[in-house]
Amino acid sequence: MIFTGGSIITDTGVRPADLVITGSTITALTEPGQAVEDHSVVDASGLWLLPGGVDVHTHFGMPLGSGLTSLGWRESSAAALLGGTTTIIDFANPAVGEPLPEAVAKWRGMADGQILCDYGLHVTVTDVADDRLAEIPDLVGQGFPTFKGFLAYKGRLMLSPVEMTRLMEAVHGAGAMLLVHAEDGEMNAAAEKVLLDTGRTAPCWHPLAHPDESEEKAVAAILDLAAETGCPLTIVHMSLARSLEMLKKARQTNKRLIGEVCLHHLFADAGLYEGGHEAALGAICSPPLRAAHNGADLLTGLAAGELDFLSTDHCEFSLKVKAEASAGGFPRVPNGCGGVAERMVVSHTLAVATGKMSPGRWIETCCGRPAAMMGLAGRKGQLAPGFDADILLFDPTAQYRWKPLGESDRAGSLWAGVRDVWLRGRQVVSSGQLTLDQPGGEFLPRHL
Ligand code: URP
Ligand code: ZN
Ligand code: ZN
Repeated sequence: MIFTGGSIITDTGVRPADLVITGSTITALTEPGQAVEDHSVVDASGLWLLPGGVDVHTHFGMPLGSGLTSLGWRESSAAALLGGTTTIIDFANPAVGEPLPEAVAKWRGMADGQILCDYGLHVTVTDVADDRLAEIPDLVGQGFPTFKGFLAYKGRLMLSPVEMTRLMEAVHGAGAMLLVHAEDGEMNAAAEKVLLDTGRTAPCWHPLAHPDESEEKAVAAILDLAAETGCPLTIVHMSLARSLEMLKKARQTNKRLIGEVCLHHLFADAGLYEGGHEAALGAICSPPLRAAHNGADLLTGLAAGELDFLSTDHCEFSLKVKAEASAGGFPRVPNGCGGVAERMVVSHTLAVATGKMSPGRWIETCCGRPAAMMGLAGRKGQLAPGFDADILLFDPTAQYRWKPLGESDRAGSLWAGVRDVWLRGRQVVSSGQLTLDQPGGEFLPRHL
């Protein structure tokens, strides 16, 4: 099959080219009109050809607080495809005392046969008993080379500094990488207690239980531990300009540090907590939305290559679920926002179309770099021979209309820009509509 008449995006910009795929793989990129092929032709005139998006931080089936994420695997992955994301990496979350391989098997059991896009799994570790840590090397060999540890969520997921050090040593020893949620759980718990003791239980108080200082303290601590242990580290969902400053400084002596930023921390801000009950509920996530200057600085850092890639932390609960939980006070509200459907189109509209980020850097941060850094090099995230034929036809003139978080965004109405999508050579979206009836997402073993 030939895609002809369109432009592809490379590091150096947008250039006209034809693209040839054979079966599920890209086989050639040629000058316009040079591709010779007997088979079908897709007319991409006036459109951009992009690699399928790669979002390496999602929670399509997250057990948190009062329930699973509302959309689940099938609908969340439909939203991903409609928004131009063909690959996600989710998290397997072990129950207390559960062996890590059992949790991985359980998560694969939930996703397989339901998920419409390709996926991999990070493995969350909340228990650093010898037995658990001993399971890490085999998991790495089986295609799970990335683990997540939390400095936040006291009493549930949080690891102490000593426990985190043990985990980092085990992960490093297995040739793997650690992803860390960098907020200080003790500081958050103390702030939360003051709020609750003084009757401040409404959703608008959530950000005060997650102060800037908490992220700053945790980022400083985890950068120190990374230097001490040598463990490769990704700080996930960095939400403060100050965190980026600390990362930049640490990188002068430690080259094995990765910084992730998420869509909502770039383009939404703490003003939503003052926009009424529903807006505040929709915006309950951790780290919370911050003062707007942080998003502007993080976007500048992402465009300049100081942050590595753009994810979503997609963890979408319905407003109904959040509202019911809020009757018990804001700490009971499950944390998380959507974003997987919007990542490519919103970042195009608010970063590329505004001239804040080049098209090449945009594609690098949404596709190539997250794939390469999370163990999918050579397979996902680029339009190049040998890569999977995950292809978007994107209309760069379409403008996404941003709806504030908290207003219901349903999958069917979420596309703007993404016109057609192919996953491993099979068309899955046509003119903004899903065209597949059977789940066809494949599990992706990864290797760093
Ligand atoms: O609020 C969030 N981020 N929910 C998902 C879990 C996490 O910490 O990434
Ligand atoms: Zn997190
Ligand atoms: Zn997350």
